Order: sequence, then structure tokens, then C-alpha cells
Amino acid sequence: MNINNSTANILKNVMSHNNYLEIEGGEILKGNIKINGAKNSALVLMAASILSRGQINLFNVPRISDVLVMSEILTAMGINIKSSSNQLKINTYEISLPSQDVFFDLFNALRVSFFCIGPLLARFGKAKIPLPGGCLIGSRPIDEHINSLKQLGVIFEFKNNYLSAEVNTPNKRLLGATINFKCKSVGATETLIMAASLAKGTTILNNAAQEPEIIDLANMLNLMGAQIKGAGSECITIKGVESLKGCNYTVIPDRIEAGTFLIAAAITRSEISLSQCEPNHLQTVIKKLELCGCKFEYSKQFLRIIPNKILKSVDINTSPYPGFPTDLQAPFMALMATADGTSKIKETVFENRMHHVKELNSMGANITVKDNVATVVGVKYLRGRVVLGTDLRATAALALAGLYANGKTIVRGLEYLERGYEAFSKKLGELGAKILKK
Ligand code: EPZ
Repeated sequence: MNINNSTANILKNVMSHNNYLEIEGGEILKGNIKINGAKNSALVLMAASILSRGQINLFNVPRISDVLVMSEILTAMGINIKSSSNQLKINTYEISLPSQDVFFDLFNALRVSFFCIGPLLARFGKAKIPLPGGCLIGSRPIDEHINSLKQLGVIFEFKNNYLSAEVNTPNKRLLGATINFKCKSVGATETLIMAASLAKGTTILNNAAQEPEIIDLANMLNLMGAQIKGAGSECITIKGVESLKGCNYTVIPDRIEAGTFLIAAAITRSEISLSQCEPNHLQTVIKKLELCGCKFEYSKQFLRIIPNKILKSVDINTSPYPGFPTDLQAPFMALMATADGTSKIKETVFENRMHHVKELNSMGANITVKDNVATVVGVKYLRGRVVLGTDLRATAALALAGLYANGKTIVRGLEYLERGYEAFSKKLGELGAKILKK
């Protein structure tokens, strides 16, 4: 992969754990932020490129380290990738399954790489990839992926931390089937959509996840010649085709990045606007912020937030889309720590996603947690501290708390933040925040 120097610098920078954010709180923000393409769509669209024997040009791809690592994984498969600014040119004519050790490190660096299993099985009838471990926010099992692929004719063998998979049909082609997911899983729904696109016959996915990123995947695959109906609903039908061609595709805006900056505006009681975002994907988040006391103006791809000076506490329960996104639970908790009243925040998607609480309390917040429910008693003041983010969204939440806090906050854990946000501190700096990346 010929990654240009600036991309290599990003990778070098991100991988070094020495970087930190230095934030002087209390600034009022103003201006506009352009929202980037969605991380959780770009990564799966890159995996889906394995399905076609053509050229895929992806536009509006965020420049984040997860995209760089996924590019390296595809390159290790012999795929030619050219990246320039927010565009990827992916040529998948030639693919060869690489030697195992190259794969191991790369796959372990990025959980979503496991989503390549569907496309690899659909294209090659076999795959051998490292078993994705859990992560800090939860055990992240893959049983839904495995059990569903088995119904399309796949047999699996787990050995030495590897998963070997083979399509056990005469011509090694997957066979369409009806799948009833036991839980709404974004990843399992995406894996089965990709696998079923080249299967023989029709696959029906019941109790499917409905996230906008799943609609984005189906839209790109249909552009490549797939026959997918119902993406975004609980029942998706995929009529398998013989082959898929290349395409040009633009990734949807990142609703989680947009939500994070809306909360940055609310926590600093600042009026800002977002452009190149999709307000429709943020309805539940907007409703909760309106209940807090924020007003909104929106038009196509544009959103303006106007927070009251005093924000009220509101309760949230995270749940699969269109519920309140678990990826905005931590940033929203930082906001509720500064609100007037007491709020209950229940995390129902991941069993271990409250690591930010201890750090927020060290800044003077008043949060107690029991059985994945956080009780947040709003306080008037937070104080700047040295804090450590231990996952992507927790680190973003601590930075937002730093924007509100009195004095200086040092946020460590940027290697997580830069996995999912392009130019996070630069964008906030352009709005007038006193934030430096050091
Ligand atoms: C996707 O992860 C996102 N990642 C996550 O974003 C996001 O938090 C999550 O969906 C939920 O919205 C990407 O898209 C790359 P799931 P995914 O399968 O697909 C259980 C971020 O911050 N489950 O929908 O891995 C699982 O344990 C990241 O950007 C099974 O039990 O999530 C969890 O409790 C973090 N068996 C629930 O389903 C399975 O086989 C939802 O997980 C699969 C999942």
C-alpha cells in the first residue's frame, strides 16, 4: 500500500502513547464544524470491497487510525489501495490470503477486521483469521456471526487462537437461509449481508440491526449489483448473485462524531452549527438534548444547536438504533455531570462501558454506578485534572468535561481518540476552545 507521508505520520503519531490534550476550560464556542464520514460505515465498506473483482472508489472516508489499520489488513491480502485526503481507491482484482503472522498482529489491532470473514467466505469459500478478543467495554462475543454463517453452510474449527472456516457445499458456494438473530448485532447483520450477497438463493435476516451504517452497506452493495431489500428495518432479504462489480461510493456522515460535537456545544452552553451531517440519524439524541433545554434549527445536512445557560438533567437508556446510541453514552454523561438535577444513565448494549466515571469523579463530578446504571447528580463546577481515557468514547467524554472545567485538564489516551475522530482538537480549536494536542 503506498500510503503517503502524511498518512504515515498520522499512524506514527497515533501509535505513540505520549500525546495528550491540554485544555483550558470555560471558553464559549462559536462557528461551524464540518462532519466527516462515518468510521463505523467506512470500515465495513472497506471489508465489503473484498466481494468485488473490481475497482471501488470510496469518498468521504475519515482520516483515522482504524482506517489506516484496515487498509493495512486489505493490503496484506494483496489488495491495492491508494489513499489521498478523504478518498480510497481500492482495487480487488488480485487477492491472495496472506501468511498467518502478518494477519495476526493486524487483526488483533482492529476488532472490526473480523467482519472480513463474510466477504472472504463468499469469495474464496474459506478463511482463516485470528479470533477477535474482547475489549475493555465488553466480552464482545461473535456467536451470532458464527451460528448464522453455519446456517449458510459454513463449518468452523477453532485452533491456536485462529478461526478456520470453510463452506461445506459441493461448489464451495454459500447457500441462502433464514436467520433469526437472538440479539440485534450491527456486526453480525453486516457479516451476513456481505456473505449472503454472493450466496446461492435467498437469505432472510430477522431481528436484524437497523443502524444507518447497515443501510449504507446495503446501498453500496446494491450499486455493485447485489439484490438487498429492507436494510434499516428488522427484516432484510438478500437474493444472492453470481458476482459483484466495482463502484464509486460516498460514506454517510458520522452521526457519533456529530453527536459528540453537539454535546461539546451543550456542555459549554455555546451556539454552534454542524455541516455535512445527517440530522435524521440523530433524532433520539436531539430529542434528549431538547429535553435538557437545547433548541435546534436544521435543514438538509445542516444542524444548529442553541443551548440554554442552565441545562436540566434527563435520563437515558442506551439501546440499538433508533434507540440512544451506546457510543454517545459517555459524552452525554459528561454533560449530565454539569446539569441541574439528577439523571439516571443505563447502559444496556455493553456490559462494561463505564470506565469514564472514575475519571469524571476525579474532576469533581458526583456519579455512582450500580448494575450498569449511573446516577449522576449535577454539580456547578468541575475542576481541571490529569485524566486517562481508556476507550474511544470515554476519551472524548473527558475532553468535553475539560471544556467545562475550571483550570487546565490534561487528557491522556489519545491513541483511542484518534481511532475514531479526525482532527478532534483542531476542530474544537477552530470553534474557539483552548485545546492543544501535545
Ligand atoms: C458496532 O460494534 C460498532 N462498531 C460499535 O462502535 C457500537 O458500539 C456497536 O456496534 C453498537 O452500536 C463498528 O461498527 C465497527 P454489536 P459491534 O455486534 O458490531 C452482542 C465505537 O465506539 N453480541 O451490535 O461489535 C454484543 O456483546 C464502537 O465506534 C453478541 O452477543 O456491536 C453486544 O452486547 C464501539 N453476539 C451487542 O450484541 C454476537 O455475535 C451489540 O454488539 C455479536 C454481538
